[in-house]
This record gives sequence, structure tokens and C-alpha cells, in this order.
Amino acid sequence: MIHGRKHISTQFRIILCILITCCLVGCGAQKKKSSQFEEGDGIIVGFSQIGAESAWRTCNTRSVQEAAVQRGVQLVYDNAEQKQENQIKALRSFIAYQVDVIVFVPIVTGGWDNVLQEAKDAGIPVLVTDRKIDVADPSLYAGFIGTDSLKEGRNAGLFVLNKFKNARERFDDTGEHVNIVELFGTEGSSVALGRAEGFREVLQTHPEFRIIYSESGDFLRSRGYELAVEFLEMHEDIDIIFSHNDGMTLGVIEAMEERGLAPGTDIVIITIDAQQAAIDALREGKVNCVIECNPKTGPEIIKLAERLAAGEKIPRLQYVHEEVFYETDDLSLIEPRGY
Ligand code: AHR
Repeated sequence: MIHGRKHISTQFRIILCILITCCLVGCGAQKKKSSQFEEGDGIIVGFSQIGAESAWRTCNTRSVQEAAVQRGVQLVYDNAEQKQENQIKALRSFIAYQVDVIVFVPIVTGGWDNVLQEAKDAGIPVLVTDRKIDVADPSLYAGFIGTDSLKEGRNAGLFVLNKFKNARERFDDTGEHVNIVELFGTEGSSVALGRAEGFREVLQTHPEFRIIYSESGDFLRSRGYELAVEFLEMHEDIDIIFSHNDGMTLGVIEAMEERGLAPGTDIVIITIDAQQAAIDALREGKVNCVIECNPKTGPEIIKLAERLAAGEKIPRLQYVHEEVFYETDDLSLIEPRGY
């Protein structure tokens, strides 16, 4: 049973179908005319992903696509290539196409009110995933499922406090600070904001720590490398690097090794995501703490989309399970990450 689909002309539907099919990935889904739908057919979900900037992102996309195939859900997929305007266009095409549910990863927090109002007017429920949004009217979307970026930032701060336990005493005696470099993610994204906020919240009552450099590396390995070349040149006294994702961290490690520095020893490194390469770096002592950001949300997303299509209510806020891996853990126990 398909919910919320209204009559539109066959010609219009065919044109839209051709346009949207051009950007379909994964299931090879093709929109059928509503009159062709039979009992038991899968629902149609429009999924707007922000791009493929990191291994995390491609794993997240794959997870949604695979879950859709497993549940017999037709996924109309769009890759926005890191542009909010592309996402808005994709959302509008999903609305015109009258999908049953829209799922989207908002690249930034703001700027969604109008297009979500259009979805609401068309009777299409919206599920926000991975990154959060700020909208004036909370009823513009049904719910959020994803990671808790504030907690991720707090965990980074707590690791720092524990690792540099004696820093306060030294600071009180000598006035010497522990110097921190932060590489944050896409500007204006809820994950970059949450991670930065959580980290600062934990350290704010600890004057011995100071952030001496904070720049956006856009969650890209190449930017992480470029910024590392810059800050390593500017500062000789860096104690800690807090990088908001593994991609940027891998770029930092490369730049440090090129300069003859030992990552994880000369400078303490904290990273977020927990892709296999970061876990390998943790095992090699090149990274000191890996905070998991879980990309494998596809099965849960598709289940929620099915509930929404059936007209059910879903939880407003759902965080997925995430772990923290420390250098002091028994690292042989970490299962292969799969990405
Ligand atoms: O929104 C999640 C973040 O986006 C991940 O930490 C990062 O790797 C990705 O690109």
C-alpha cells in the first residue's frame, strides 16, 4: 500500500521518472505509475546524500542502499556533491515525484524551512539522518536518527583531561599551557558544531589547555594534509591534535611523517569515525584515541521510513550505538570495521 501519493498526469510522471532515474544508484529502482502498484510492493524513499567526501560517507550510503534492497524498498538516490542547493533541488524532485518518504542528510543546519514546508504540504514525511537541522517549526520533519556529535566532542575532551592529568600542576607552577590544534569538519554542519562544542565544554574549566589553531578541513583527507603542512610550519609547540574525522587525520599523519615527526608520540592525536585505517593507526601508536561515529545506520533508517510510510509516529530523536577506542585498550579485540 502506497501512502500519500496523489494523482498526477502520466506524461508528467514519465518525464520526472526519466529525470530521476538518471541519478538512481544501487537498487536500480524505477518509479512505477501508482496504478501499477500492487499490494506488497515496496515503498519509495527519496534519499538525498551530501556526497562522498570520506570513507565514512561512502559506507553510510552503502548501508542505506543495501538495507533498501533487503527490505524491497525502492530508493531514489541523489548525491548532492557537497552543495546545499543540490540537496534542495533533489528534495523538490522527490516531492514532485511523490515519493512515500524523504530521507536526507543535511549538509548544514540552516536553510531548510521552505523546502520542508513544501514536503509537509505535499503530505510527504521527512526523516533527517546523520546531521541535525535548525527549523522554526519542528513539525517540518518527523524525526532524526544519527550520531551524537556533542557526546563525541565531550569524549575527546575527557580523553585529553585523562591523558594530561599533570598538566594543571605544571600550569600552576610554570604557566605552561598544553597546546591544542583542532581540525573541524564542514562549516555550519551540526556535527562540526557539536564536536567543537562538546570538546570546549569539557575543557572550559581547565585553563591549562588552550586551542592555538582551529580550521575547517571539510572532512577531507587532502585538506587535512594541507592544513597540517600549514600549522606544523606555524607552531613548533603543538601537544594535541583533535581532528573531527579520520580522513583529515590520515592527511595529518602523512604531513607529520614527511617532516620526520612521530604521530601519536610527538603529538597526541584524537580522531573521530573509526574507519579501519584509523584503527590500524591506533594499533601502530600513531593515533591515541579513536571515537566512533557509526555510519551503518541503513537498516534503522529504512525501518523508520517504512513506519512513516505506514502513517506511524517515530521517535523524535534516536542516537545510534557508538564506542570509544583508547590506546590503552586491548586492541586485538576490535572487530574488522568493514570500511
Ligand atoms: O556527518 C558525519 C561526518 O561526515 C563524519 O565524521 C565524516 O567522516 C563525514 O564525512
